[in-house]
Amino acid sequence: MKKLTLFALATLVAACSPKSSDLPVYLDASKPLDERVEDALSRMTLEEKVAMTHAQSKFSSPGVPRLGIPELWHTDGPHGIRPEVLWDEWDQAGWTNDSCTAFPALVNLAATWDRELARLYGDCIGQEARYREKDILLGPGVNMGRTPLNGRTFEYMGEDPYLAAQLVVPYVQGVQANGVAACVKHFAVNNQETRRTATNSVVDDRTMYEIYLPAFKAAVDGGAWAIMGSYNLYNGQFNCHNKKLLCDILKDEWGFDGVVISDWGGCRDDDQAIVNGLDIEMGTWTNGLRGAASDSYQNYHLARPYLERLRDGRATEEVLNDKVRRILRTVFRTSMSGEVHYGSFTSPEHFAAARRIASDGLVLLKNDGALPLQVPEGGKILLVGENAYKMMVVGGGSSNLKTKYEVIPLQALHEAFDGKVRVQWERGYVGDASTSFDRVDTGQDLTESRDAQTLIADAVAAAADADLVLFIGGLNKGANQDNEGTDRTQIELPYGQEEVIRALAATGKPLVVVNISGSPVAMPWADVAGAIVQGWYGGTESGHALVDVLTGTVNPSGKLPFTVPCRLEDGPIRTERQYPGIQVEGKPYWEEYYDEGIYIGYRWYDTKGIPVQFPFGYGLSYTTFEYSDAKVARAVVKGAGKTAVTEATGSGKTVQTVTVRVKNTGSVAGAEVVQLYIADPEASVDRPAKELKGFRKVFLQPGETKTVSFDLDRAALSWFDAEGHCWVAEPGTFQALVGSSSADIRATASFELK
Ligand code: BGC
Repeated sequence: MKKLTLFALATLVAACSPKSSDLPVYLDASKPLDERVEDALSRMTLEEKVAMTHAQSKFSSPGVPRLGIPELWHTDGPHGIRPEVLWDEWDQAGWTNDSCTAFPALVNLAATWDRELARLYGDCIGQEARYREKDILLGPGVNMGRTPLNGRTFEYMGEDPYLAAQLVVPYVQGVQANGVAACVKHFAVNNQETRRTATNSVVDDRTMYEIYLPAFKAAVDGGAWAIMGSYNLYNGQFNCHNKKLLCDILKDEWGFDGVVISDWGGCRDDDQAIVNGLDIEMGTWTNGLRGAASDSYQNYHLARPYLERLRDGRATEEVLNDKVRRILRTVFRTSMSGEVHYGSFTSPEHFAAARRIASDGLVLLKNDGALPLQVPEGGKILLVGENAYKMMVVGGGSSNLKTKYEVIPLQALHEAFDGKVRVQWERGYVGDASTSFDRVDTGQDLTESRDAQTLIADAVAAAADADLVLFIGGLNKGANQDNEGTDRTQIELPYGQEEVIRALAATGKPLVVVNISGSPVAMPWADVAGAIVQGWYGGTESGHALVDVLTGTVNPSGKLPFTVPCRLEDGPIRTERQYPGIQVEGKPYWEEYYDEGIYIGYRWYDTKGIPVQFPFGYGLSYTTFEYSDAKVARAVVKGAGKTAVTEATGSGKTVQTVTVRVKNTGSVAGAEVVQLYIADPEASVDRPAKELKGFRKVFLQPGETKTVSFDLDRAALSWFDAEGHCWVAEPGTFQALVGSSSADIRATASFELK
């Protein structure tokens, strides 16, 4: 009976709903995307088209209400879904159902060197975005780590273009599998926060193509539906309407068919905004309705000024149609895709994923045996440092999140030892006592009345009966730390933490130091610590993830996605004209010269032979790995020649295969990131001593051996010829260097390219 009723109901619904053939083409999700786009476009008025090209609120841009085409909802990104803000203001809307899962910062993901985790991350955050009815996620960020001082390094994927390119694609694809567009940012050469809206990056083409563009190109080739411009200028033009970047490179060379969105407030010029490749202008007048006498969204460059130009013939409808096609494509790919996605939010699966990504990215930098923690029952751990206690999901700028909960290290330690070991916390120093950002409150009380010397004395006194001292410090997401809008002012630990660490070491107790930061911190005190862990902003589950590694529940397998130098001045950025830029007569903005060219990060230190504290790609485990038998498939390979810039990343055919055997020689299971670097010592141009061109994370049981194999295409052997505007793989001898970090090459094999 029940079945019959259901059948009758289904028949009735089918009879009443329009057949696919009755639907206008644009509403028929079974039709090809571009047919739908053309059909919708043909039905739209000029005003409706222009409306779609600029914001209508802080985080939305209009649809076409008359045609039932929904507006686009944008959200930060890139570590979780931003809490709702008011329609016209940055203030929180005060919703009580928008506390998300905070995923680890992107630099933490990069430190996992794990493509599968990047996919998992993208998928989970895409589900959260879909559940919250967002269409465009403003992330991931793939600007390169040029200076360790950049305030937004934590939102990016390290200093190497290959690593970032490999991780951005699965992230993007994971997000988009949920009918949410990933918006890759900030395009391009936006590598500092100091004067970010008034600095012109002067970069040569070889450097652009080899260092700063590859991760963006990989994302585009991998199917990214949206790209965000950046605040700075390049080539003397603001990047949100930069002809060379957006028209010539992104849309013409790479064939990007998605939508270009401005960074909030990144647009400056009516005419350039129209003709130079921008599609949606967001955030120009950040005060929204309050800032102008009339509806200020109408004052956007792509609003009334655009309509005026279209009406009097200064602008063409052809250019407008191109923008609208891209916007419609985005709508049909997301909310009107025809595929049903419901998403999910703050699920146990998301928390578990966040915990796994966070722990798999933790990097063990040093270990004299103090880790995993061994404390006798009834013993005591003295925990010192603000970051053992301070909640770190809030802050940092636009990636600020309101999370359902945040596990701090102190809580996780208590849970892990469950009363069997006493855990006493001493603050040790006062860093950033703020506990709210953008009206997201942690509810913590971080006020402190003791002075610096008393804080140290109290910590030292508390060490007397401790079995072990665990210091958890580093940076935070306050101003001049890891934070949007400002850069760091020093590469060393702030707030007098070095003094605290040295005082704790002087107690003679075993000392473990955890540095939580999103960017490289110099560690001149490294020799006084028994063990050092590089921690990150791990999100909701950060404390659990850290304690998982400290106790050995998880064997650390993260590797540094950037170099940790000994001193700032050892790096490639040595003049003011390189960073933060200088004023040049006759130039309206600050000029910043990328004089170091392609030599950033390990490319610089390796090539110049400058020692570093911890190299790129470095990270220890609780087990050990042995490499052997590195081999190339062929001693001589064919394939020398040129490759067009239009060729898709990774589409080239394999010219060489490198294999190596890796054995777990210790007594616990663990994962090793096997890295392949290529050296081209006979190149006719300067090339770095080595460059990363492959990596695999392999999990090995004690005693187990696996063969790891890397396929190389011509692109992996090429450098960018600016004059010929193409990639060149020159004939000659190449070296395949396989290792455990950029500085720890365990096996080498040579081959000749003809
Ligand atoms: C940031 C972007 C962010 C946007 C929206 C800008 O200031 O640079 O990364 O997505 O604001 O919050």
